[in-house]
Amino acid sequence: MRALLSLMLLTISLQGCQITDSDAPEADMNTLIPPITKPDFATEIKPIFQARCQPCHFQGGKVYDKMPFDKAETITRLGTKLFTRIKDEKEQRLIREFLDQP
Ligand code: HEC
Repeated sequence: MRALLSLMLLTISLQGCQITDSDAPEADMNTLIPPITKPDFATEIKPIFQARCQPCHFQGGKVYDKMPFDKAETITRLGTKLFTRIKDEKEQRLIREFLDQP
Protein backbone atom coordinates (compact mmCIF):
# COMPACT_ATOMS: atom_id res chain seq x y z
CA MET A 1 0.00 0.00 0.00
CA ARG A 2 2.75 2.37 0.95
CA ALA A 3 4.69 1.50 -2.22
CA LEU A 4 1.64 2.23 -4.31
CA LEU A 5 1.19 5.56 -2.58
CA SER A 6 4.75 6.66 -3.19
CA LEU A 7 4.48 5.52 -6.80
CA MET A 8 1.43 7.72 -7.18
CA LEU A 9 3.21 10.66 -5.57
CA LEU A 10 6.18 10.13 -7.85
CA THR A 11 3.97 10.10 -10.91
CA ILE A 12 2.23 13.27 -9.79
CA SER A 13 5.46 15.08 -9.12
CA LEU A 14 6.95 13.96 -12.43
CA GLN A 15 3.93 15.34 -14.21
CA GLY A 16 4.36 18.54 -12.27
CA CYS A 17 7.88 18.82 -13.59
CA GLN A 18 6.87 18.32 -17.17
CA ILE A 19 4.20 20.96 -16.93
CA THR A 20 6.52 23.61 -15.51
CA ASP A 21 9.25 22.67 -17.99
CA SER A 22 7.12 23.14 -21.05
CA ASP A 23 5.46 26.25 -19.66
CA ALA A 24 8.58 28.15 -18.70
CA PRO A 25 10.42 29.85 -21.53
CA GLU A 26 14.18 29.76 -21.23
CA ALA A 27 14.53 33.50 -20.81
CA ASP A 28 12.49 33.36 -17.60
CA MET A 29 14.71 30.67 -16.13
CA ASN A 30 17.75 32.84 -16.70
CA THR A 31 16.33 35.82 -14.91
CA LEU A 32 15.27 33.63 -11.98
CA ILE A 33 18.82 32.43 -11.41
CA PRO A 34 21.19 35.37 -11.72
CA PRO A 35 24.81 34.46 -12.40
CA ILE A 36 26.98 34.64 -9.30
CA THR A 37 29.68 37.18 -9.90
CA LYS A 38 32.10 38.50 -7.37
CA PRO A 39 30.84 41.81 -5.98
CA ASP A 40 32.98 44.73 -7.03
CA PHE A 41 34.99 46.18 -4.16
CA ALA A 42 34.88 49.83 -5.19
CA THR A 43 31.19 50.03 -6.12
CA GLU A 44 29.54 47.41 -3.88
CA ILE A 45 31.70 46.64 -0.86
CA LYS A 46 33.46 49.89 -0.03
CA PRO A 47 30.24 51.95 0.10
CA ILE A 48 28.94 49.72 2.92
CA PHE A 49 31.95 50.59 5.06
CA GLN A 50 31.97 54.21 3.93
CA ALA A 51 28.41 54.59 5.09
CA ARG A 52 28.89 52.88 8.44
CA CYS A 53 32.50 52.96 9.53
CA GLN A 54 33.51 56.57 8.96
CA PRO A 55 35.60 58.29 10.09
CA CYS A 56 37.74 55.84 12.03
CA HIS A 57 38.57 53.28 9.32
CA PHE A 58 39.08 55.85 6.55
CA GLN A 59 41.73 58.39 5.65
CA GLY A 60 42.49 60.54 8.67
CA GLY A 61 40.62 58.20 11.05
CA LYS A 62 42.27 56.80 14.15
CA VAL A 63 42.49 53.18 12.95
CA TYR A 64 43.12 53.96 9.27
CA ASP A 65 46.80 53.03 9.60
CA LYS A 66 45.98 49.61 11.05
CA MET A 67 42.71 48.85 9.30
CA PRO A 68 42.02 50.92 6.19
CA PHE A 69 38.60 49.95 4.86
CA ASP A 70 39.24 51.56 1.48
CA LYS A 71 41.56 48.66 0.67
CA ALA A 72 40.18 45.29 -0.41
CA GLU A 73 43.02 43.46 1.42
CA THR A 74 41.80 44.72 4.79
CA ILE A 75 38.36 43.28 4.16
CA THR A 76 39.70 39.89 3.07
CA ARG A 77 42.10 39.85 6.02
CA LEU A 78 39.44 40.61 8.62
CA GLY A 79 36.90 38.30 6.97
CA THR A 80 34.00 37.23 9.17
CA LYS A 81 35.31 39.34 12.07
CA LEU A 82 33.58 42.17 10.29
CA PHE A 83 30.22 40.57 11.04
CA THR A 84 30.54 41.51 14.69
CA ARG A 85 30.01 45.08 13.44
CA ILE A 86 28.06 44.52 10.20
CA LYS A 87 24.72 43.01 11.16
CA ASP A 88 22.60 43.77 8.12
CA GLU A 89 21.78 40.52 6.27
CA LYS A 90 22.05 41.94 2.77
CA GLU A 91 25.36 43.59 3.54
CA GLN A 92 26.67 40.40 5.15
CA ARG A 93 25.68 38.38 2.09
CA LEU A 94 27.48 40.77 -0.25
CA ILE A 95 30.61 40.72 1.88
CA ARG A 96 30.47 36.93 2.16
CA GLU A 97 30.20 36.59 -1.63
CA PHE A 98 33.17 38.90 -1.93
CA LEU A 99 35.20 36.84 0.57
CA ASP A 100 34.22 33.47 -0.89
CA GLN A 101 35.46 34.17 -4.40
CA PRO A 102 39.07 34.29 -5.47
C1 HEC B 1 34.45 55.48 16.36
C2 HEC B 1 35.51 54.90 15.58
C3 HEC B 1 35.23 53.58 14.88
C4 HEC B 1 34.20 53.29 14.02
C5 HEC B 1 33.09 54.21 13.54
C6 HEC B 1 34.40 51.90 13.63
N1 HEC B 1 35.51 51.38 14.23
FE1 HEC B 1 36.24 49.50 13.99
N2 HEC B 1 37.71 49.86 15.33
C7 HEC B 1 37.91 51.08 15.96
C8 HEC B 1 39.01 50.93 16.90
C9 HEC B 1 39.54 52.05 17.80
C10 HEC B 1 39.45 49.60 16.81
C11 HEC B 1 40.56 48.91 17.61
C12 HEC B 1 41.86 48.97 16.88
C13 HEC B 1 42.94 48.25 17.65
O1 HEC B 1 42.94 47.01 17.60
O2 HEC B 1 43.76 48.92 18.25
C14 HEC B 1 38.61 48.97 15.81
C15 HEC B 1 38.75 47.64 15.42
C16 HEC B 1 37.95 47.00 14.51
C17 HEC B 1 38.09 45.62 14.13
C18 HEC B 1 39.14 44.61 14.61
C19 HEC B 1 38.96 44.24 16.04
C20 HEC B 1 38.02 43.09 16.21
O3 HEC B 1 36.86 43.29 16.59
O4 HEC B 1 38.46 41.95 16.02
C21 HEC B 1 37.12 45.36 13.23
C22 HEC B 1 36.85 44.04 12.52
C23 HEC B 1 36.39 46.59 13.06
N3 HEC B 1 36.92 47.56 13.84
C24 HEC B 1 35.32 46.73 12.21
C25 HEC B 1 34.57 47.89 12.09
C26 HEC B 1 33.45 48.00 11.19
C27 HEC B 1 32.96 46.90 10.26
C28 HEC B 1 32.94 49.24 11.35
C29 HEC B 1 31.73 49.86 10.66
C30 HEC B 1 30.49 49.13 10.75
C31 HEC B 1 33.76 49.93 12.34
N4 HEC B 1 34.73 49.06 12.76
C32 HEC B 1 33.56 51.24 12.74
C33 HEC B 1 37.18 52.25 15.76
C34 HEC B 1 36.05 52.38 15.01
